[in-house]
Parts: sequence; structure tokens; C-alpha cells
Amino acid sequence: MTIGVLTSGGDAPGMNGAIRAVVRAGLSQGWRVIGIERGFAGLLNEDFREMSSRSVSEIIQRGGTILYTARSEELMTLGGQAKAAAVCREHGLDALVVIGGDGSFKGACALADLGIPVIGIPGTIDLDIACTDYTIGFDTAANTAMEAIDRIRETSSSHERCSIVEVMGRSAGYIALYCGVATGAEDILMPESFDGDEEAIIHSVMNGRKSGKKHHLIINAEGVGHSEALAKKIEAATGIESRATILGYLQRGGSPSVRDRIMATRMGVKAVELIAAGSLNRVVAFKNDDIVDFEIHEALAMKKNISDSWLSMLPMLKR
Ligand code: F6P
Repeated sequence: MTIGVLTSGGDAPGMNGAIRAVVRAGLSQGWRVIGIERGFAGLLNEDFREMSSRSVSEIIQRGGTILYTARSEELMTLGGQAKAAAVCREHGLDALVVIGGDGSFKGACALADLGIPVIGIPGTIDLDIACTDYTIGFDTAANTAMEAIDRIRETSSSHERCSIVEVMGRSAGYIALYCGVATGAEDILMPESFDGDEEAIIHSVMNGRKSGKKHHLIINAEGVGHSEALAKKIEAATGIESRATILGYLQRGGSPSVRDRIMATRMGVKAVELIAAGSLNRVVAFKNDDIVDFEIHEALAMKKNISDSWLSMLPMLKR
């Protein structure tokens, strides 16, 4: 047996732990494990390296991905998909493990349809894969953002300012939600729930000041965006000095938390167990405190929403 492993899409802390688990568990089965560099772009380019137990030493504690990552435009085309499937066949890959987010799973799904057995491991800081309650990288990214926001909050209080902090999440507000609650933010703007009503935010800032608050913290998801413009609007309407900070890529780096190392390890081992059992074209998931798996087409068809219990809690914390 020969299996390939790649990381694809935005990197996430813990991806290295998942690579390590796939390599070591695969080698334990007596298989060859091929590391494919730069995601699907590297697959198309045959950027392959033979993995040994030592090639994944000293990586569980490191952020990023030792296999590098990329977003491949070519794999979105039918021609690119056919070429990728042919490369897998030429190299004798019996299965391909794809560590990444929804976009990467779409690529994996296309290969599955062309007869290449695949397994997906959810790795993205965004926590936005519907079939799983956890995605590798979220905990570290949210903690990194939380620490940065705590610091911004201190200077914001000293200056009695309004602060808007923009966190990552192009189409998902989970980092904003968790960080907003964990830092005691007055307002949390998420693509899933924000209706674009900026007047309501301005009122919220004014009400906070009237009730004696010294500063006002707004956590804004990247998918809502326009943080600078919102800061200017709030300042013009309220007279309260307002500043925007975009945290950006610092959220994607850093040594993975214990949760990310453990999840990555358990999910990586599960991927190998699935292949060994002949259970292919599956996505590994975390549900009800257990590592489970779903058929890849079914997993991709699932939808994820921020639950009402989260949304109904937020106004109570704002007083
Ligand atoms: O998918 C993770 C993520 O960090 C998103 O939150 C963000 O919108 C996107 O990646 C940024 O991607 P890129 O690295 O291509 O700028």
C-alpha cells in the first residue's frame, strides 16, 4: 500500500500534528507514505517526497505546515482534476489524505469521483466545516486573537476609545463569536447574523457610554469587513475616538494548543484506520466527544449555522 498526504488551503496550527499522525500510523501498517508539497498544486507538479518516521520528528509543536500549502486554481477545472487523478495513478497512490477546509474537500471530492480514494481531515482556523464540531487550528487561532484583543482592550480603556478589532473568517464568524464572548466585547459582527445596520451599532456605542462604560469593544469578522470605515462613522456620529485594528495573519501562525495537537493526532490516526478498513472517500469529524467519519459527498452537502442559543445569549452580556 502507498498513501499520499497533503495540506491545502489556508494553513492552520496543528496541521503538522496531523501529518505526523498520518505518517507514523501509515508506516505502522507497513505502508509507504508520500508527502505531497504545496497541496493540489504540488500534486499536479509531482512535488513528492518519501516520508519516514524521522521526517516528522520535532514537528508536533510547530505551527504552519512542513508540506507547505497552496490554493490551486487548476484543480477547479475538469482538465486539472483529470491530470491530478492520472498523477495519483502513475505514482501508485492507493489513497490520498487531504488536510484542509471545505475548498480542499471539494477538490478531494472531484478526485473521488474520478476513482481516486480520498480521506479528508478538517484543518482550518475558521471552524466552518459543517460535518464536524471541530476543525484543527481553531483553538490556537482563537486564543491568539483573544490575547491580542485583551491588549487592545487595555489601551482602548486607557484612552476611553471605541475599538473595532477585525478577526479572520471570510464567510464564518466563529473566531469573532468565541473571541467576542471571551473578551467581553460589547458587539460581535458575524457574516451569519449581521444585518448591516450600522445605526444600531452607533446607538450601542452611545448607550454604553451613557451607562458608564469607559470603552467600547467591537469584534468584527473579516466577512463583514469595512472596519476602518465603521470606526470613522462611529467617531463622526458619537464624538468618541474610534480605532480599527485588523489582526490578519498573526492568527494563523503559532505553536498549536494542546487541543489542536490532540485533535490533529486523533484525526490523523483515524484517517489511516479508515484506509486500513477499506472505508474510503470519507471525511474525519469530531462529534459528541468522539472521532467519527462521514461519506465525503454527504459531508460537503451539510450546512452549518451559528445556533440560536449562541445568538440569544449575546444581548444579555452587553448590559
Ligand atoms: O481559511 C482560513 C482563512 O484564514 C480565512 O479566515 C481567510 O479569509 C483566508 O484564509 C485568507 O486566505 P489567504 O491566505 O489566501 O489570504
